[in-house]
Parts: sequence; structure tokens; C-alpha cells
Amino acid sequence: PSSEKPQLPALVKTLRSNLRQYPDFPQPGILFEDILPLFASPKLFETLLTALELLITSHLGKDPRIDVVVGLESRGFLFGPALALRLGAGFVPVRKPGKLPGTVKSVGFQKEYGGDSFEMQADAVKSGQRVLIADDIIATGGSAAAAGDLVRQLGGELVGYVFMMELEFLKGRDKLDVEVFTLFSGQEEGLDSKA
Ligand code: PRP
Ligand code: MG
Repeated sequence: PSSEKPQLPALVKTLRSNLRQYPDFPQPGILFEDILPLFASPKLFETLLTALELLITSHLGKDPRIDVVVGLESRGFLFGPALALRLGAGFVPVRKPGKLPGTVKSVGFQKEYGGDSFEMQADAVKSGQRVLIADDIIATGGSAAAAGDLVRQLGGELVGYVFMMELEFLKGRDKLDVEVFTLFSGQEEGLDSKA
């Protein structure tokens, strides 16, 4: 019946089959998994949002309320605001340094080569707001963990993370102490860790 809820595994299969693979990008030996086709088609974008919404709401249990979706610059901006609307939440960005006006909080973290940092406007998340952090991919988990620190410094209640893709072999989720939702996983020699 048409009233039946779309089933998550079928949606994930459709989405998975529409990722585009680029061998030897950005370096020889790396198979780049391109997520952009999922945004270029309105039908696939809709399917993506439905899948993410199902994934999140079916696992949040007793208190499914999300007040704020926090998206990580840059690729967390691709679907963070649209997902926030679906969840009835607001959207707040985590930005790379020097981009945000007013009083900001920053947190440093390690990247593959050297350090980096993330910033949020100090009043962007109110004390006690329930926050979901969104990004395209979790590799080492360094970016996600730093963003989580920021949200907590602002007084937010971090309830979970959502990623389109997880590079499981890097064990990034071990750095995170709340629920982690992911649609796809990537293989060791399959994926650009920055894809
Ligand atoms: C990539 C990716 C994630 C992060 C994952 O972003 O979009 O944000 O790396 O890596 P980690 O789990 O090891 O921290 P990148 O810094 O390449 O920038 P971009 O999103 O602006 O392209
Ligand atoms: Mg990124």
C-alpha cells in the first residue's frame, strides 16, 4: 500500500548504486566515491533525506527531538540544512577559522598533515538544546570529535552524529561517545579518506 513507510535498506541500495566511482583520484591507487550525484537529482536528494530521517528517527528511541543540526564546513553544508528542515530543527554551521563574525569558540584538532581548527558562534547553540552533528564522511573522526567538543562548550546536548559514509577501518567512531548513524561504509583500499 502507498501509505507504507519506505524501507531503509531499499533506499540505501538505490543511493549506493548512484554514487560515482573515480579510480586514481585524487592520487593513483585511490578509488574516489563521489556523493554529488545524490544532490544533482531532486529525486535522489529526496530519497537521501528520507533515508537519513528514517535512520535517525528509528534509532533515537524515547527522546527523538532534535533542536539543532550542526553541519561541518564544507561538505556537511550540502545536506545539513535540508536535513534540519526534515527534522523540524534549526541549522548551525561549524566553520573553518576566521570566517565567523562576533564572539566565536574554537577547537583545534589533528589532520593528516598538521593541525586545523573549527569555530562556532558562541551563541549559536543555546544551553540544553539537543544537537545532531552532520557531515558527509567520517574518516579518522578528528573533525567530528572537535565539532562535538565545540557543541558541548556552547552548552548543547550532543545526541548523535550522522554521516553519509564511514571508513570503518579507520575506527573514527571510537573517538565519539554518542550515537553514530551512517548510510554507507567504505573499504580500506577502496576510498579516498577525504572523499
Ligand atoms: C573531509 C570530510 C570530513 C573530514 C573527515 O573534509 O568532508 O569533513 O574530512 O575526516 P576526519 O574524520 O579524518 O576528520 P575536508 O577537511 O577534506 O574538507 P571539506 O569538507 O571542506 O572538503
Ligand atoms: Mg569536510
